[in-house]
Amino acid sequence: MVSELKEDLQNLLNDIISGISNSETPSELEDIRINSLGKNGSVTLYLKNLRNYDIKTKKEIGTYLNEIKKQIIKSITDKKNLFKKKYLKEKLKTEKIDISLTPYESDIGTLHPLSRTIEELCAIFADMGFSIVEGPDIESDYYNFTALNISEEHPARQEHDTFYLQPDIDGQRKVLRTHTSPVQIRTMEKIDLKNFDEIRYIIPGRTYRSDHDATHSPMFHQCEGLVLGKNINMGHLKGCLIDFCRTYFNESNLPVRFRPSYFPFTEPSAEVDIGCKKESDGSLVIGEGEEWLEILGSGMVHPKVLYGVGIDPTKYQGFAFGMGLERLTMLKYGIPDLRPFYDCDLRWLKHYGFLPVDNPSLHSGLNGVFS
Ligand code: PHE
Repeated sequence: MVSELKEDLQNLLNDIISGISNSETPSELEDIRINSLGKNGSVTLYLKNLRNYDIKTKKEIGTYLNEIKKQIIKSITDKKNLFKKKYLKEKLKTEKIDISLTPYESDIGTLHPLSRTIEELCAIFADMGFSIVEGPDIESDYYNFTALNISEEHPARQEHDTFYLQPDIDGQRKVLRTHTSPVQIRTMEKIDLKNFDEIRYIIPGRTYRSDHDATHSPMFHQCEGLVLGKNINMGHLKGCLIDFCRTYFNESNLPVRFRPSYFPFTEPSAEVDIGCKKESDGSLVIGEGEEWLEILGSGMVHPKVLYGVGIDPTKYQGFAFGMGLERLTMLKYGIPDLRPFYDCDLRWLKHYGFLPVDNPSLHSGLNGVFS
């Protein structure tokens, strides 16, 4: 009886083992596992029937069955590993990773031309000893206008230019700053006059005016500059801005002109123009020709503004300047229309965007690599 049973089991084992070695797919192998060791599998049924035998047979056949189970599990595991190896080999044969592709051709994002301009400005002015500061986009009337000597009747205060917010409980109407100049006031207020020698700041940021056409957007960017010290004069202003224009446009002989102008918060004030030529197709060549193009406003900080922040204008003088970053960007990279700057059109961004890894610096060059 026992030996007969053992013989049956041996035959069953042989069948299962040869089934395993002949199996060609993981799912065939899984079927064999279920049919032998599953809930109603052939080996499981023998185990279930053990209770019908006497103790001695139970023990002997039980041990035998466990041995068989172990062998089946081992050969299933071996076969599974074989399938895995085969699968990997085939995958390696059919799939290739082309490591010769350059990063330029891969799908990496690009830096918006405006971000590039801000980085270039920071690099140029940092080289001249300037630090970078920022201020809030939502300003009080005081910082945006009053502290800058802009009178109640000044046209910039009118609704058509300025975005006003709902009045506060105390009746104050906050504004979206119309220029970065309020940050001049905020930085000057923080000066500790006891330990004060000189400050040089640039202030890049968003600005807002209700204006919209091919060269104006209701949200745009400016960069403010402020230098304040004991013997700062108009010569410093001119030297600094001529240097800036020539470095930014990469033209060591770029003609730069200072044209008398008016801003309530500077005296004297000057607008800065650069030399250029207008081609018949409407494009511009910077640095050549007889024409002039206005690129920024500047002037010596008005004594009234200094008084207002508690600085004695007979002891300290300074100069300030402000420029539109969209305009600077359009001129440098020949971008004809301002509106696509904020359209998030991937084709435009890809065309005018810069490689994000190519940081501007004065020694490696400011002419960034387009994507
Ligand atoms: N804030 C002025 C503008 O927006 C520019 C400016 C800044 C002029 C600083 C002089 C000094 O037009």
